[in-house]
Amino acid sequence: MHNYLTNTATDLGMSPPLPLSLQPSALTGIYQPEHNIAVWHRSLSTKMTQSIALLLQEQTSLALVQTVTPSNTAHWVKEKLASHDCAEALGEDIALIVDMFCCLFDLKEAGLRLTRLDKPMCPKFHVDHVPCRLVTTYLGSATQWLSNNDVDRRKLGAGSHGKPDHLSGIYPNEASINQLSSGDVALLKGSGWEGNEALGLVHRSPEVLPNERRLLLTLDMV
Ligand SMILES: [Fe+2]
Repeated sequence: MHNYLTNTATDLGMSPPLPLSLQPSALTGIYQPEHNIAVWHRSLSTKMTQSIALLLQEQTSLALVQTVTPSNTAHWVKEKLASHDCAEALGEDIALIVDMFCCLFDLKEAGLRLTRLDKPMCPKFHVDHVPCRLVTTYLGSATQWLSNNDVDRRKLGAGSHGKPDHLSGIYPNEASINQLSSGDVALLKGSGWEGNEALGLVHRSPEVLPNERRLLLTLDMV
């Protein structure tokens, strides 16, 4: 596995440095045509992580789906998680992220999914056929992705001939696989972004360890 946090332009060969920062402004890097991912790298507090772990112990089938606005998100999330310790903090955090997503793309609302996962949702490398999707994993292993230099796009989909990623030849070696960290907020540019039709970010859900639980937030343009 490649620790992209220590990447330099040299490590990446011809690739430009990844838009990645401890500042949320890193997300504006998604507008640069040469980038198909931008990452706001952050760590969640231990208190928040522990309270989310408790939530996932109790809510074994958590799957919230809603079109939200920046102003109604916090209230909606808190109402849905009312009896849980993490409701307040999670509601405020998700509202902040929805606000940033809507500001960045000049949207009035966003399609929110907050899902508990105990198996990979999309286990094979693929491209999303959307303009741009925001993902953040609040708990558990986070999304894996390949840089453009490390992916053979002929092996996507039917091109894999049914082989798993580690046998299809889609990436040259295991060290090519990058992985986000829990807490990171990432924008994944898809094939639906004008001018990015052939360069959508190639990514997949991580393998989930036995007894591991993930909490994944995604936001889409609606
Ligand atoms: Fe995806």
